[in-house]
Amino acid sequence: MTILHRILGITVFGASLALAQEPSLTYKEHIFPIIEKHCLRCHLEENDNPSGLAMDSFELLMKGGKNGNTVVPGKPEESILYRKLLSDPPFGKQMPRNRKKLSAEEIGLIFEWIRQGARKE
Ligand code: HEC
Repeated sequence: MTILHRILGITVFGASLALAQEPSLTYKEHIFPIIEKHCLRCHLEENDNPSGLAMDSFELLMKGGKNGNTVVPGKPEESILYRKLLSDPPFGKQMPRNRKKLSAEEIGLIFEWIRQGARKE
């Protein structure tokens, strides 16, 4: 089931990527808007999130949370940021916590951004 979700997410994203002819994804252009919309209210530095993860900036995101490996550039399957978006996260709850999960396209964007090396801009 999970594998299928992942494949679906990637396929949906792959199709839209091909259409948009956008070769590379950046934190600034593609990822921060998703974080701002769905995650930031709970993951601001000033909130003291129990996970230790603040996402106010690229630097804080890359510094990561208390469980480490938040973003492992080139390796989305090892990145907690991606795995916490799936229905079977390695610990705790699926993110965004207690809210509607992200769309397959948004999850696909995060997967693909990490796979491409997690560039800032
Ligand atoms: C309603 C508040 C809330 C929202 C919204 C939210 N989170 Fe979280 N997040 C938490 C809490 C609380 C924890 C700690 C408990 C857990 O891991 O389930 C956490 C933990 C995490 C962790 C684990 C970090 C670590 O090292 O322990 C990651 C990664 C994460 N969130 C990513 C996200 C992402 C990405 C989004 C947006 C798509 C998001 N969160 C939205 C509250 C939230």
